[in-house]
Amino acid sequence: MAPFIVFEGCDGSGKSTQAKALFRRLQREGCPSLLTHEPGGTPLGESIRRRLKAGWDVSPLSELFLFSAARAQLVQSVVVPAIRNGITVVCDRYTASTVAYQGYGRGLDLAMIGQVNRAATDGLSPDLIVLLDLPSELTVDRKGKNVRDVFDGAPLEFHGKVREAYLYQASQDPGRWLVLDATKPRRELTLEVWNKVQPLL
Ligand code: TYD
Repeated sequence: MAPFIVFEGCDGSGKSTQAKALFRRLQREGCPSLLTHEPGGTPLGESIRRRLKAGWDVSPLSELFLFSAARAQLVQSVVVPAIRNGITVVCDRYTASTVAYQGYGRGLDLAMIGQVNRAATDGLSPDLIVLLDLPSELTVDRKGKNVRDVFDGAPLEFHGKVREAYLYQASQDPGRWLVLDATKPRRELTLEVWNKVQPLL
């Protein structure tokens, strides 16, 4: 099985840029690879993404199931077939986002989220989770004023909880997580990621 690598972080942490940089490097090295993101990556996932971004008035529980439906579809129809065929998968967000946003952020029960995450992924865990850690004050600044997002207008406190959730998850499984200071120069981060990924290939 090829490696499954996930990027996590708050909005505006630069994780999408780093995920793309890793994907390009893998391609340059001749390593079969695929870049995807959550929510999305399948027709169902993309339509859920559009609806969530359009500002649906959904309850936290409905939100959990929407993200999880998108994930179940992505894992079953894209991620598992790819890694079984020797294709490295780089994914922008995964289950840790649900723990952070729906669990710590929205306040849903963490044990229930754990169960839903396991069901949606059939227990598939990433080989590596790269966390681009950013102080919450910068999260809001960096995102840019014109970007429409699910958590637009969420208070600083919300982003603080999300960050805390990520750091806690990383501390519980340090072998699987690589925590990077997202304020470092982009190229330096790209190199740190590559140094960690190379032995997995
Ligand atoms: P996106 O534009 O992908 O944001 P980013 O570029 O920061 O990743 O929008 C995804 C949003 O969905 C983001 O605010 C985090 C949120 N989200 C959850 O709340 N729960 C989840 O399980 C996932 C995957 C994402």
